[in-house]
Amino acid sequence: MDSELINKVTWKIPNALTLVGSRSGDDWNAMTTSWVTQVAQEPVLIGIGVDKDAITHRLISEGRSFTVNLWDAENTRPFVKFSKPATKEGMALNGWSISEGITGAPIFDDSIAWMECTISQTVDCGSHTFFIGELVAANVNDDEATPASMSDTRMKYGGTRRGH
Ligand SMILES: Cc1cc2nc3c(=O)[nH]c(=O)nc-3n(C[C@H](O)[C@H](O)[C@H](O)COP(=O)(O)O)c2cc1C
Repeated sequence: MDSELINKVTWKIPNALTLVGSRSGDDWNAMTTSWVTQVAQEPVLIGIGVDKDAITHRLISEGRSFTVNLWDAENTRPFVKFSKPATKEGMALNGWSISEGITGAPIFDDSIAWMECTISQTVDCGSHTFFIGELVAANVNDDEATPASMSDTRMKYGGTRRGH
């Protein structure tokens, strides 16, 4: 199939835009992630698609957990910064303050809502792994705010790999 068409079509999927937190020992990270969805109700399972080359992939594989942080659609600036490995200073990633979840993974204090999951299944999807996590903790910090979506930005993710 024509890769331009694949891009055009898949970029139309109206994904959320989130920050996925991960941690292994002293290594903490968060990355801009759009491939996020609930996949079951009993148990409550959340799936995320993570590039095998991402630091986040290693940290989730080792730490066996992740967080999904929903962000205010009015403030999409952090997504640019978090599309590169994050810098940790004290309890902050790229200057955004974090707390340690019950699994050890980072939770953003400024998220409008967050979910914390422990890995229940790891599905090999080629370039990416679909990590399926069971929800173990969650909170809504701001019930009024609208969660950010890809369409709130000019960013794109998905389609075919460049150079592939
Ligand atoms: C808008 C946007 C959405 C993204 N969505 C995903 C995603 O769902 N899964 C993924 O693996 N990488 C995604 N990325 C790419 C990662 O944010 C980027 O490769 C990051 O550097 C990898 O994270 P790392 O810090 O763990 O290496 C996205 C990037 C952008 C700009």
